[in-house]
Amino acid sequence: MTRHFLTVAETPDEDLDTIYRLATAPLDDTLLAGQGVALVFERPSLRTRASSSSAVHELGGYATFFSDDEIGIGRRESAEDVGRTLAEMYSLCAARVRRHDTLERLRAVVGERLGLINLLSDLAHPTQAVADVLTLADEFGDGDPRSLAGRRVAYVGDATNVTRSLAVALRRLGVHVRVGAPAHYQLSVGGGEDPSEDGLAGSLELVDDPVAAVTGVDAVYTDAWVSMGMEAETEQRRRDLASFAVTSELLSHAASHAVVLHCLPAHRGDEITDEVLDSPASRVWRQVYHRRSAMVGVLRWMKGEE
Ligand code: CP
Ligand code: NVA
Repeated sequence: MTRHFLTVAETPDEDLDTIYRLATAPLDDTLLAGQGVALVFERPSLRTRASSSSAVHELGGYATFFSDDEIGIGRRESAEDVGRTLAEMYSLCAARVRRHDTLERLRAVVGERLGLINLLSDLAHPTQAVADVLTLADEFGDGDPRSLAGRRVAYVGDATNVTRSLAVALRRLGVHVRVGAPAHYQLSVGGGEDPSEDGLAGSLELVDDPVAAVTGVDAVYTDAWVSMGMEAETEQRRRDLASFAVTSELLSHAASHAVVLHCLPAHRGDEITDEVLDSPASRVWRQVYHRRSAMVGVLRWMKGEE
């Protein structure tokens, strides 16, 4: 059976548990021996490209990188023809795409022949969410994500693709999530990575006040105010989101043991200050470390490990 990892929401709980476990369990470094993984990037990346290629190498495979300039999905040829081509030569493809719909179009044509991993789309960033869960589990659960139930996490700033996947992953684990953002930048409900999914153990609260968002929480998370592709709105966004910056003053309203998370790249002085990013509360480098663990877990699960 070919597996895909396009959103957290479409991945059943037991599969997420398997991914979390395999991320840090002893591994077989020949699992991908002789196998290539196509890495397609329509947008820039440091952490995702580095963690993907090193995780493939760690499992004995090799990664082939394709940039937007070379592959030109929708310009040089259609997403469908890119998918059909890659499926002739690879069993796995991990892709960072402008539009989530590109991943759905690839999935529609490759069927069982090519396993797909979402390395960030406009909708979701599920491999980041896996790394974030592993980081919080190290901090508050002795490495066990199931121990996070009842914890409280606040996200402040622009509610992005990262926020959506994070909210779904944490709520599945029984974590209470509060998102603080101005109305225009708040999470929208519904859609493919639905943060308002019914029946989850953890709650979701949407507020428009940053202090209300972070008061008493165990962790404060933020992401860029200007996501890739939104550069034309930079000045407007900096004005609209200024009061949502993660500063020492804002952090003082969280629990005294609270940690700070950011998917990076950080825009120091905008969504987060140097003082907070470089403080003892910051766990951003642990998140980076776990980007590779997360990719190892996802790749092992894709190859059918239990
Ligand atoms: N967090 C993250 O996805 O970083 P990159 O954009 O550098 O890959
Ligand atoms: N929300 C950001 C995340 C970058 C890792 C973006 O989409 O650009």
